[in-house]
Amino acid sequence: MASAPAAIAVSRSTGRGAASVPATSRERFRGDVLAGLALPSRAIPSVWFYDAWGSRLFERIMRLPAYYPTRVETGLLERHSDAVVARLLGGPSSVVDLGAGDGTKTKLVMAAARRRAPTAAYVPVDVSATALEAAAEHLRTTWPGLEVRPVHGDYVEGLAQASRTSGHAPLLALLLGSNIGNLEWTAAVALLRSLRQALRLGDHLLVGFDLLKSEEVLRGAYDDPDGVTAAFNLNLLSRVNHELGGDFDLSAFEHRATFDAGRPAMESWLVSRRRQVVTVADQRFEFREGEAIQTEISWKYTDGQIAALAREAGFEEVERFHDGRRWFAEALWRVGPEAA
Ligand code: AVJ
Repeated sequence: MASAPAAIAVSRSTGRGAASVPATSRERFRGDVLAGLALPSRAIPSVWFYDAWGSRLFERIMRLPAYYPTRVETGLLERHSDAVVARLLGGPSSVVDLGAGDGTKTKLVMAAARRRAPTAAYVPVDVSATALEAAAEHLRTTWPGLEVRPVHGDYVEGLAQASRTSGHAPLLALLLGSNIGNLEWTAAVALLRSLRQALRLGDHLLVGFDLLKSEEVLRGAYDDPDGVTAAFNLNLLSRVNHELGGDFDLSAFEHRATFDAGRPAMESWLVSRRRQVVTVADQRFEFREGEAIQTEISWKYTDGQIAALAREAGFEEVERFHDGRRWFAEALWRVGPEAA
């Protein structure tokens, strides 16, 4: 599950240059943290939540009663996966999983793909080798005859490679979990455009979007009473301490989730409980009491914004699936003939 959002943010922090040589993950982490802490409005990209412990905590978040997105999206895929694959001419040649997740949602789509195209291959794409192997193993165990072609890399690289090694039938790429919502608008458009460029005419992309709903429900999902989300957020500081030689006092920061009606989005922060000085990789950072580090945005889309994203990224919208309360949407997009 871990690295689904990770791959998105890696694309962001490396400028998506497939040709550029990526620094090691540790160097990118260091660069993002030192640069982010030096900003006038401090911010660390949410990609860095997902170390081994952060991924475990996120799995617990997905089981929280208040964290509705995973359950609602799973329900949508249970209901509509057959309709999704039916839209691809001849059924998909392969299902490309951008950020493999724990496999539950992928399996629903893969099962539908196999009903229509029994030889459809499974291509998990992930920047984390461990997550990649886990996803591949999970589906291989479920379907021993399944062709599995894991790609270790970011979403755009992975998709480009999958598209080169796929047959003539269209490809179905999955970008689930509203992971796209961790990106600001321009970054989301840039990622989606790159994905479209890595696809061929007739290929499809299924994107999961968390939708705007009551502030009360949103706040509940990002600030649960058991403090799992708080622990998830604070784990970022403990990761900085361990991996970058930081001395953050975790008890001196608190988790806060706020709603920004403008984007609209939920935002996560770590707020300094007092004046303090923190050292990371030999650099000093002074915090005022109440000063915050932004650690995540989680966009809550309107219908109009989903349409605008498709348009700005150059996709044709094929169909949209909602749950009864319209809390979440699966959008099926296609690379149309006008896309260049
Ligand atoms: C996996 C990025 C979609 O933004 O809702 C859960 C991560 N953060 N609780 C989200 C998350 C706080 C999640 N995504």
